[in-house]
Amino acid sequence: MNNENNNILDQRIREYLAQNGIAELSREEVKNKIECLSGMDFLELKNRFQVHELPDFYEIGQSGRDNYNYRIAFLKWMVNFIDSYPIGDCSILDSGCATGLDLCFLAGHYKDRDKIFKGYDKQEGMIFLAKEKAKRLSLKNVEFYVSDHDLDIVNPDSSEICSVDVLYNNNSLGLPEMRAENKTEAVEEIDRVQASRIANVLSRVKSGGTGIIGGVYTGKVDSLLPRLENRGIVYVRGEKIFNTPLGLEYFNQVFEIHR
Ligand SMILES: C[S@@+](CC[C@H](N)C(=O)[O-])C[C@H]1O[C@@H](n2cnc3c(N)ncnc32)[C@H](O)[C@@H]1O
Repeated sequence: MNNENNNILDQRIREYLAQNGIAELSREEVKNKIECLSGMDFLELKNRFQVHELPDFYEIGQSGRDNYNYRIAFLKWMVNFIDSYPIGDCSILDSGCATGLDLCFLAGHYKDRDKIFKGYDKQEGMIFLAKEKAKRLSLKNVEFYVSDHDLDIVNPDSSEICSVDVLYNNNSLGLPEMRAENKTEAVEEIDRVQASRIANVLSRVKSGGTGIIGGVYTGKVDSLLPRLENRGIVYVRGEKIFNTPLGLEYFNQVFEIHR
């Protein structure tokens, strides 16, 4: 993508975020906004819930400076990826889509094409808000479902969200948290659980399709690869998409599915 197109896309994403009440805010501003809306002390709220467990506050959290800039980098990468994808009318699934922030942007960006955008999340509250957003933006090419990465693969009701061409998972596999929580656990066990989560989620992709695992803090996936290859998941590449000012690096890991 040349510089001019990149700037236009950047601007479109920022406008879309603003349209959804998301502006770039400092940590303090996010905290104040959440306190104002919830009527609760921020620390108390944080001790009781994860922000992503509270659908009504989820998007305020996305205004935080790092989240905001990461989101822009992620969406730009996705547009570049979709533009270069060989299948024109491919189906694209967002697994763990929360309030549909990424998916509704993409569905709006490709409004005039026959791509089918689908998203699921295990929380009904998130899917309720995602459907409202799609309605508000008059999107006709996007569908949302309540489903669980691990549990619904064999459920006939979830057939709509299986056999897709492209699946992306933006920070919804709990991979970084898993590392942090299990510092004392054997690395081998962490790899086993991570590989199995990735394999479960990518089992929704049809053979020949592509899986993207985004929002991953580390570029190192080597130790997972033999376990993934066992399940027909072939590693293609890892691309660094974002650096936080403190130097944390975020990657999109791209896999091809062959069964
Ligand atoms: C950190 S948020 C990221 C959401 C979204 N992808 C984004 O970038 O805004 C994690 C989301 O994953 C969902 N999630 C976590 N575990 C899940 C599972 N097993 N199945 C489906 N959704 C899940 C949560 O409900 C939450 O909405």
